[in-house]
Amino acid sequence: MTAPMPDSFPPGSSLNGTPLSAPPAGCPAHATGPDGVQRLYGPAASEDPAGLYERLRRDHGPVAPVLLEGDVPAWLVIGYNEVLEVARSPRRFSRDGRNWAAWQEGHVGNGSPIAPVLLWGPDCTHQDGDVHQRLRRAVNESLDRFDRRGLRRHVQRYAHGLIDRFAADGQAEVLSQYAQQLPMLALTTVLGLPDEEGPRLVEASRQLLIGTEKAVTADAYIQGALRTLVARKHEDPGHDLASWLVGHPADLSDEEVVHHLRLVLIAGNETTTNLIVNTLRVVLTHPKFRGSLHGGRMTLPAAVEQVLWDEPPIAVCPGGFATLDVELGGRAVAKGDVLLLGLAAANADPAVRPTPGAPMNGNRSHLAFTSGPHECPGQDIGRAITQTAIEVLLARLPDLGLTVGPDGLSWTASTWSRHLDELPVRFGPRPPEEAADDLEGAEGRVPPDGAERREEDGAGGADGAAGGERVRRHAPGTQGATPRGRRGLLALLRRR
Ligand code: HEM
Repeated sequence: MTAPMPDSFPPGSSLNGTPLSAPPAGCPAHATGPDGVQRLYGPAASEDPAGLYERLRRDHGPVAPVLLEGDVPAWLVIGYNEVLEVARSPRRFSRDGRNWAAWQEGHVGNGSPIAPVLLWGPDCTHQDGDVHQRLRRAVNESLDRFDRRGLRRHVQRYAHGLIDRFAADGQAEVLSQYAQQLPMLALTTVLGLPDEEGPRLVEASRQLLIGTEKAVTADAYIQGALRTLVARKHEDPGHDLASWLVGHPADLSDEEVVHHLRLVLIAGNETTTNLIVNTLRVVLTHPKFRGSLHGGRMTLPAAVEQVLWDEPPIAVCPGGFATLDVELGGRAVAKGDVLLLGLAAANADPAVRPTPGAPMNGNRSHLAFTSGPHECPGQDIGRAITQTAIEVLLARLPDLGLTVGPDGLSWTASTWSRHLDELPVRFGPRPPEEAADDLEGAEGRVPPDGAERREEDGAGGADGAAGGERVRRHAPGTQGATPRGRRGLLALLRRR
C-alpha cells in the first residue's frame, strides 16, 4: 500500500515497546510516522480521536492511510458509504488475517500489540464464507431463542441489587459500581452460568481488561468456567446459550462452543458497559435531554440510538484484508492490505449527516454494530440491557446528578475505542429498604415511553426494532494501557 515504511528499520521494529521509528511520546512529531502518515496510536492520537478523524477526512477523503502500533500501515475507512461497502463485500475484504501481506511477510508477529485484534483466531470474527456462516448461524439462532422479557427481568433484578449497595451513600461512581458490573451479570444469565459465577466473572474480566500478568490467569479462569458449563449442559440442558449451542444442528465441537461463549462474554460486556455509561453521561450532562426524556418527548430508546451515532462503543474495528487489488473511495488498495472500519468517523460523515451532532430521532442506520455478514448479533440484547439499566437507575434515584461538570470528566482512548474514566454522581441517600419498597411506584417514574415499551416492543429492546425487524441500513435522509488499563475490547476478543 502507499503508506511507506522507514528505510532504516524493518517494519514493526521496536525497543521496549516503543517503535524505533517513533519520536518520544509528547513530541508533536509523534502524531505522524515517516512521510507524515498519521499514527492511529499513541498520546497524540488518543487525545482527540474525533478531531483526528476530521483532519484525516479533510486531508484524504473517505479512505485514509494510517499507521498502527509498530508503524504498520493500514487504511482507515471513514466514509459512511465506504464502510458499508467494505463490511458488505466479504469476497473482496476477507476477515481471515492469513490474507494480510504484513503477516505473510513477517512484519507482524504474535507478539505485536495489534496481533490479538487482527491475526487469525478460531472464533467466527476471523472466518469467511461457509465456515463463518456455520458458526454464525449457531450463534444467531441460539441468541434469537431468548425469552426477551425474562432477560429484562433478570437485568432489573441485578440492577436493583447493585443500586442497593450504594443507595444509602448518597454518592457513587456509576461506571465501576454499576455500568461495569451489570452487563456481565446479565450475560452470565444469558450463557446459563449460575448466578454466583457473575461476580467472579466480573472480576476476571476486569483483570483481563487491565491487561496485567493476572490477565492470563483470568482468561484461564473464564475458559475453565465455560468448559465446566459446557460439560454440564451436555448432561442437563436448560434454556440458555450454552445449551442451545451444544444442541445446535451445526454440530459445534465443545471447543467451538467454548470459543463462542467466550466471544459473547467479551464482545457483549465492555461494549454494553460503554453504552450504558455514555448514555447516562448524556442524560446527566444535558439538562434539556433529560428534561425531554422525562417529559416524554425523547424516548430512552431514541437516546440510546443517539449515543450509538455520536459515541459508538467501538470506534474502530477490523474491516478485512483485500483479496485483490481494488479501488475504494478513490484509493488504490493493494491485495493483502488491511482495512479498518472507522465507525465513529463514518457516523459523523457529512455526506450523511451534514449538521454535526444533529438529533437523529431514533434513526437506527448508524454503524455502531457495522453491517454485512459480521454485523453484531447481540445488538438487541445490548440495547435491552442498556435501557433497563438506565430505567431502573433513574427510577430508583430520580435526583441523580453529576458531582463534576462536563469539563471535569476524562476519557481514555485506544486505537479501537474511547472510554470514560469515571462517572461520579450524587443523590439523596435512600436506605435500601425504602428504595426497595418504592420500586413499584418507582416504575411509574421511569421515563414514560421507555417504561411502557419495556415489556411491549423491545423498541429497541431485546426484540429489536418494532415489529422484530432487523435493522435496515439507509443513509439518513435517503431512507425511509490506560487508567482503566485497556488496549480495548477488540484486543481481548482475539486474545487466547
Ligand atoms: C450494545 C453494545 C454492543 C456494541 C456497540 C457491539 C458492537 C459490535 C461490533 C462493532 C462488532 C464487530 C462487527 C464486525 O466485525 O463487523 C460486534 C461483533 C460481535 N458482537 Fe457485538 N456489540 C454489542 C453488544 C453485544 C452483545 C450484548 C453480544 C452478545 C450477546 C454481542 C455479540 C457479538 C458477537 C458474537 C460478535 C461477532 C460477530 C461476527 O464476527 O460474526 N455484542 N459487536
